[in-house]
Amino acid sequence: MKKLRIDKYLADFGLGSRKEVRKLLKQERVTVNDQIVKNPSFHVNPKEDIVKVDNEVIQYKDNVYYMFNKPSGYITATSDESMPTVMEFFTEEPYSSKLFPVGRLDIDTEGLLLITTDGQLAHRLAHPKWNIEKEYYAVVKGDVSDIDFSKFEKEGIYLKKDKYRTKPFKVKVLSTSPEKSEILITVTEGKYHIVKKIMEELGHPVLYLKRVRIGPLKLDKNLEPGEFRELSEEELKKLKKEVNLE
Ligand code: URA
Repeated sequence: MKKLRIDKYLADFGLGSRKEVRKLLKQERVTVNDQIVKNPSFHVNPKEDIVKVDNEVIQYKDNVYYMFNKPSGYITATSDESMPTVMEFFTEEPYSSKLFPVGRLDIDTEGLLLITTDGQLAHRLAHPKWNIEKEYYAVVKGDVSDIDFSKFEKEGIYLKKDKYRTKPFKVKVLSTSPEKSEILITVTEGKYHIVKKIMEELGHPVLYLKRVRIGPLKLDKNLEPGEFRELSEEELKKLKKEVNLE
């Protein structure tokens, strides 16, 4: 793990803002390996150095990353006055109060949601520059077999109501019937209701929507709606690599 400035280390632990923790340093209340440290730009190795404040060990915690299978009926937010949020699944100890969901799924959308404390990764995954693919399994109304989806891979689609042309997207048809069709649709933008709007424009409104992939990260089939698990090292490494981190 990278070395960190002592003021960041202490602030990340929750001992106050950078300004506040600098006071602790100035007051000579902070030691690293039993030596008083006053300089806020002093670097510590979180894996090896013993940092204490008022003689109490301050154990640095790495960011945490959970793969969550969001159930329908929960909004993607950290708090809400009237609706239950996805964070209700993460309220008990040891879940950090710094956790938040990355991106947004509609209240009735299920599937893959990343819940983390890592603001930098979240910011990059959401940034259009990185073109992160988001794949959804969707059940849509009616038979889509006569639509030529290939052209949308080059030019996207113009959403008349929004007066907006989407970025290119891909569709794979899994099954069709006169009543409904099953598709996999892959988009790279996070615009509000994007999949529902695309399928509405095509005359096949979404009946059911579930996110199954974010970039290289696939929803674990063993997770029931409402269940989550930590990302494996391999999953995290691939995800970070996708946005040029570490
Ligand atoms: N597109 C939608 O329409 N809804 C979602 O929840 C995600 C993508």
